[in-house]
Amino acid sequence: MKHRTQVGIVGAGPAGLLLSHLLHKQGIESVVLECRTREQIEGTIRAGVLEQGTVDLLTRVGLGERLAREGFAHDGILLRFHGRTRRVDFPSQTGGKRVTVYPQHEVLRDLVKARLADGADLRFGVNAVSLRGVDGERPAIRYRHDGEDCEVSCDFVAGCDGTHGVCRASIPSGIATPLERTYPFAWFGVLCEAPPSSPELIYCLHERGFALVSTRSPTVQRMYLQVDPEERACDWSDDRIWSEFRTRLATDDGWAPKEGPIFHKVVVGMRSFVLEPMQHGRLFLAGDSAHVVPPTGAKGLNLAASDAYYLGGALAAFYRGGGSSALERYSERALARVWKAQRFSMWMTSMLHRFPGGDRFQYRAQVAELDYVTSSKAAATALAENYVGLPMN
Ligand code: FAD
Ligand code: DHB
Repeated sequence: MKHRTQVGIVGAGPAGLLLSHLLHKQGIESVVLECRTREQIEGTIRAGVLEQGTVDLLTRVGLGERLAREGFAHDGILLRFHGRTRRVDFPSQTGGKRVTVYPQHEVLRDLVKARLADGADLRFGVNAVSLRGVDGERPAIRYRHDGEDCEVSCDFVAGCDGTHGVCRASIPSGIATPLERTYPFAWFGVLCEAPPSSPELIYCLHERGFALVSTRSPTVQRMYLQVDPEERACDWSDDRIWSEFRTRLATDDGWAPKEGPIFHKVVVGMRSFVLEPMQHGRLFLAGDSAHVVPPTGAKGLNLAASDAYYLGGALAAFYRGGGSSALERYSERALARVWKAQRFSMWMTSMLHRFPGGDRFQYRAQVAELDYVTSSKAAATALAENYVGLPMN
């Protein structure tokens, strides 16, 4: 089966679906090819924090209704270290900006619903995806769907297929440079049935390792522990998990997290990765296919959204007759923002985690840094403006 579209998009994650939606708003047609089922993408628990700019973008393009109703606006975060808790306020440091806790799979549900209502061509459960001729004028994507060999020819291919996709691997080696840093620890994430332990997220440094208290709803909480990357979720009983949270999160005034049954556990590896440039010929990468950040800054989903915004704008300029200069500058424009988020995520990660072999000296220096960040207006402003998200310019 052969068909044709303007932009062929591989991957129905936040980057691919948002790009498809933004293109539709500009009258540009796309086909989205996704190897998983709709139920799988809408049911996978991942990120939860949306920057102000991401919320504004989603709202501007008609995706803000449920987000405004069900998302939770947060005006600050708490940094906990050495038994004490300090708050960084966002609106007062950033001209009124804040973040919104609204899970990634809810963003995806809103996007899929909107795309299908607009009659979009979304193909779930495809396999054997491969790219053809991206360095020529007429690229194509081959794939199998419902047992049939298919090929979609297009003007451009958007590689939005995440860390393990095929698009990045289609760029010949020597054309783009992978830059990478791995961390000697992972995050163990849990979801539990309990009321919120705190009105705002708590990022905690402890000598036994990092802990994070986040939330999903008044009855479901999201929490993370720093663990060894080899750790297996099945080796952690609920008792062991709660005991570790109580220890790491303890304060001088006897604070303790609200406990409840744990119904989801996952170990997530941590890595910083950037591919430079993010484009080759008529193939443009967006989101995790081009870059990965450690989760400490809550930037992964937000970068997928800003890439989609930049790429959508450059493609719209092309189809309006503005030539290909915006497309040629896509990677440079996206990477300027990506690298600042990389820097912030790396900084948050190194300030808040215990490094293997890390001694008392390192711990004391981390405590001093947290003390400084939460007592200097200049330093708190720097954290706040990065956390709520740098402008998409
Ligand atoms: P993805 O969301 O990965 O979407 C890519 C899509 O492409 C997927 O649906 C995939 O099935 C599909 N695909 C892959 N290969 C193919 C193929 N060959 N053919 C067709 N389709 C394909 N970020 C945070 O900021 N905070 C967090 O707490 C956080 N937690 C995370 C937890 C986990 C377990 C993971 C894996 C990531 C987490 N992230 C987190 C990162 C964040 O979720 C990602 O940055 C975000 O999903 C990136 O969006 P994307 O659209 O670029 O890629
Ligand atoms: C969540 C994830 C993050 O990476 C983070 O920094 C804050 C919150 C979350 O899943 O809620």
